Amino acid sequence: MISVPVELGARRYEVEIGRGLRHDLARVISDSVGPGVRRAVVVTQEPVVAAGWADGLDLGVPHEIVVVGDGERSKSLATIETLTSGFARDGLARTDVVVALGGGVVTDLAGFAAATYHRGMAYINVATSLLAQVDAAIGGKTGVNLPEGKNLVGSFWQPRAVLCDTETLTSLPAREWACGRGEMAKYAFLGPGEPDASLLSLDLDEQVARCASIKAEVVAADEHEGDRRMVLNYGHTLAHALEASAFGDESLSLRHGEAVAIGLVFAALLARRLGRIDDDRVELHRKVVGAFDLSSRLPERDPHELVSLMGRDKKAAHDLTFVLDGEKGVEVVRGVGEDQVLATLEEMEAAT
Ligand SMILES: NC(=O)c1ccc[n+]([C@@H]2O[C@H](COP(=O)([O-])OP(=O)(O)OC[C@H]3O[C@@H](n4cnc5c(N)ncnc54)[C@H](O)[C@@H]3O)[C@@H](O)[C@H]2O)c1
Ligand SMILES: [Zn+2]
Repeated sequence: MISVPVELGARRYEVEIGRGLRHDLARVISDSVGPGVRRAVVVTQEPVVAAGWADGLDLGVPHEIVVVGDGERSKSLATIETLTSGFARDGLARTDVVVALGGGVVTDLAGFAAATYHRGMAYINVATSLLAQVDAAIGGKTGVNLPEGKNLVGSFWQPRAVLCDTETLTSLPAREWACGRGEMAKYAFLGPGEPDASLLSLDLDEQVARCASIKAEVVAADEHEGDRRMVLNYGHTLAHALEASAFGDESLSLRHGEAVAIGLVFAALLARRLGRIDDDRVELHRKVVGAFDLSSRLPERDPHELVSLMGRDKKAAHDLTFVLDGEKGVEVVRGVGEDQVLATLEEMEAAT
């Protein structure tokens, strides 16, 4: 087992990575939540249950298993109401614990339910998707979507521990692996040293741990998302616009990590246009994204629509804000002209 600390003072916790870690829940609950725990609720989803990952769990205290719906539509206030009403009926007390067993949708939902039920109670993430293990389960951002947009309601509420049980990944669908690899490609540009795809030569636990430690370090430096934490959105400005433009149209649908891969190459081209990086560095972006077996081809979209969606991205407080590579590495860049963004989209379109 590999352990990665998230150094947040009194709220410090460990991200543990290893095969079969879900069977360590009794130890982890006792160590990280304490002796006051009498009950637990495990929040999960049907595909995770079907794969057997909720079978034979021992939490050291009695627990209920609650299955929430799949997909972004289930990441809603309605689900929070259903979940917390269930907590109340189960007699869950403020000193008890919620366990999220699933991907990012489950960890975001269960985390937000724990953040608000009884004005805040303990939760533990057992991440079962690659994306959740390297990203979503770590850092305490919890929340749900509104019809008006993704992740608009939520809170910062740190888990007491994160378990990345890499055995659960054996049942993860291929598309979800690709999704996680998109975030891994992002970390290649956020870690120390020259960006490359050497991460891929490590064994799976090491790969997850390497990404988790980059995320943990950024979160510890900037828990509430000032400029430092915003680097975690590298490749995400275009990605969010692509996802938004595909919303409701299955034929256009892109998984988040696939959109991030396209967004990384776009960010490199934009950085070059702004004189921040050279041709070799753009090529490096293409190489890394390719090594993670992801495409950087821009899907057919109206560039004007994409620019307008990028302006609406809630993470861009000042239009248009990007996270871009440069001499000092990846950083937040404000006040990028729409014309530059449009020209970069056209350049990308022409190249594919
Ligand atoms: N809080 C954060 O910091 C943060 C960061 C990144 C992403 N997110 C959120 O994470 C969500 C995406 O997470 P995701 O990519 O994990 O998607 P997801 O949670 O929707 O999971 C994808 C699918 O895989 C299934 N699944 C999960 N683990 C499985 C397993 N081991 N075997 C078989 N099936 C399994 C799920 O049930 C689901 O059907 C988004 O809502 C995004 O906003 C949050
Ligand atoms: Zn992401």
